[in-house]
Amino acid sequence: MSNDPLVVFTPSGKRGRFPAGTPVLAAARQLGVDLDSVCGGRGICSKCQITPSYGEFPKHGVTVSEGALSEWNSVEQRYADKRGLQAGRRLGCQATLQGDVVIDVPPESQVHKQVIRKAASARPIIMDPATRLYFVEVEEPDMHTPTGDLERLERALSEQWEISGITADLSLLAKLQKTLRKGNWQVTVALHRDNGPGRPRITEIWPGLHETGLYGLAIDLGSTTIAAHLTDLETGIVIASSGMMNPQIRFGEDLMSRVSYAMMNPGGDAEMTAAVRNGIDDLTRAIAAEAGIDPALILETVFVCNPVMHHLLLGLDPVELGQAPFALATSQALHLTAPDLGLNAMNPRARIYILPCIAGHVGADAAAVALSEEPGKSQDLVLIVDVGTNAELLLGNTSRVLACSSPTGPAFEGAQISSGQRAAPGAIERVEIDPVSKEPRVRVIGCDLWSDEEGFAEATATSGITGICGSGIIEAVAEMRMAGIVDASGLIGSAAQTGTARCVPEGRTHSYLLHDASDTGGPRILVTQGDIRAIQLAKSALYAGARLLMDEMGVDKVDRVVLAGAFGAHISSKHALVLGMIPDAPLDKVTSAGNAAGTGARIALCNVAARAEIERVVGEITKVETAIEPRFQEHFVAANAIPHKTDPFPELSKIVTLPEAMFNAGGGNEADGGRRRRRRGA
Ligand code: FES
Repeated sequence: MSNDPLVVFTPSGKRGRFPAGTPVLAAARQLGVDLDSVCGGRGICSKCQITPSYGEFPKHGVTVSEGALSEWNSVEQRYADKRGLQAGRRLGCQATLQGDVVIDVPPESQVHKQVIRKAASARPIIMDPATRLYFVEVEEPDMHTPTGDLERLERALSEQWEISGITADLSLLAKLQKTLRKGNWQVTVALHRDNGPGRPRITEIWPGLHETGLYGLAIDLGSTTIAAHLTDLETGIVIASSGMMNPQIRFGEDLMSRVSYAMMNPGGDAEMTAAVRNGIDDLTRAIAAEAGIDPALILETVFVCNPVMHHLLLGLDPVELGQAPFALATSQALHLTAPDLGLNAMNPRARIYILPCIAGHVGADAAAVALSEEPGKSQDLVLIVDVGTNAELLLGNTSRVLACSSPTGPAFEGAQISSGQRAAPGAIERVEIDPVSKEPRVRVIGCDLWSDEEGFAEATATSGITGICGSGIIEAVAEMRMAGIVDASGLIGSAAQTGTARCVPEGRTHSYLLHDASDTGGPRILVTQGDIRAIQLAKSALYAGARLLMDEMGVDKVDRVVLAGAFGAHISSKHALVLGMIPDAPLDKVTSAGNAAGTGARIALCNVAARAEIERVVGEITKVETAIEPRFQEHFVAANAIPHKTDPFPELSKIVTLPEAMFNAGGGNEADGGRRRRRRGA
């Protein structure tokens, strides 16, 4: 056996023998240990920090003595003096092997570090972004052997990092010469490599060692809102998240109204394109300011969006998406630059990646959900519902994945609801109605107390109770159904029929008074018959989409349901089942995945291999078209009842017994209802 020192790296467990004097970084590279370095071992970037362990390690069969690594050297001392180095840490490029040693690579020194995702069930993201930093020393020019600065930079990258065949845009060339000389022939370059066409491309260059970071944006471009996550491309940490209303809203609330705007108004598509691009620029500046970084350090952006947003972002006329056969200009993933999209706030050479679309109605946002939730890897049959103005649904398991979209409209987001509002402080987000007294209690965003708990009035004094948001209206309607205030057809009973003076007549229908602050000049928040109808339409569309996928799959039940979307995260599983928004499933099998499309965008931003993966997966997803499918209409009509006209909900009936109430439109004893109304309390 060789007497060369044995090194064991943790946590990887990789081990090997190397001649005494081998730098730890060199040993790590040879063993394929994930140890970072931007400066290539020059002792200036500190990315290569390691922690040696001393003593007995029976598990590894190693005894580590004090002199196992070379002595602390002047480079490490200089670094520690200037920047500080945690006790026990060494620079892997400076410390050399002298004896057997166990070396821990802390998470921050790993190139492919794992970023933990919030949902407990979610797999971590492995960092491997398309853009990385490399520090190089470039040869100075020599009159006798004339070569260009870019060629010498290329040679340096090849010799020092084994990267060849680079390219650079003209705008980069324009700053190359000055930067090389300013850095005294030492520069850091940002190099972009992805699975798209083309050679590795230098997208930015800084003199000397660049230490102010490298950032990327993951943008979920929705019809109603645009959400952005600013991510540190070295650590994968989201350093700021921000959102804004989509400025295209002024051209139409939902997708089809925007397509019709483009159809009816010459140049309307260009107007909407300009609006959304300006909005993204504003959001980019705002999020960079919030994080305190220069927006020019944003060198990567990933977009996920539905097909109409996709076309409008790209400056493509969305008219074809408004009519069968709903042809996309392209469904492929796109590799672009910020100027291609007219985006001016980020680095002018920032690379843009847009996930592939699944089909004319199922976009890159659904692809991102598939990337995040991986239905194709699920052993049990999972239905993933991304709830928004347009809902995307994925149904699948390891055998097959199907997708469709369903036009739910904005009711789930609080729009088209009489007292509806966006989810903001003061909005009612939770509702409970006592089945006996029919009295409600509510919770509002920004306060953890229920309205019947002590301190609620004080805690909500500033925000007030201003309206009802999407999750609030879902709970309100479901609670009304459970309390016998609304019947299975969706009709609100009169005061006489329901036994509560909170049911007040409104023309020929009734409304339920959820909250009344009119005594003090505040609002009266009612759930009207119109609100119930709007929710019924939205939930029927969602359910019908799910049923269509189930028909295609040849099943009449699913094993589990995942509610996704920023809004999906706030929906109570029980209330979603009572309402019949989703097919019946055991309550503990209805879970929330948060903003899965946004997470998919983050994965594609942080891991270049995930881009190839989703491009492959999208090709295998079967698209089901809802708009032209006659069974969609049948399912839609049957799903109008709460929870459903014909489909049984056996799992739901294990936890909830729904009253058999049936109200007629007349509402019974109006005089009685009027008397009770006068006695009503708020
Ligand atoms: Fe840069 Fe060690 S590799 S300091």
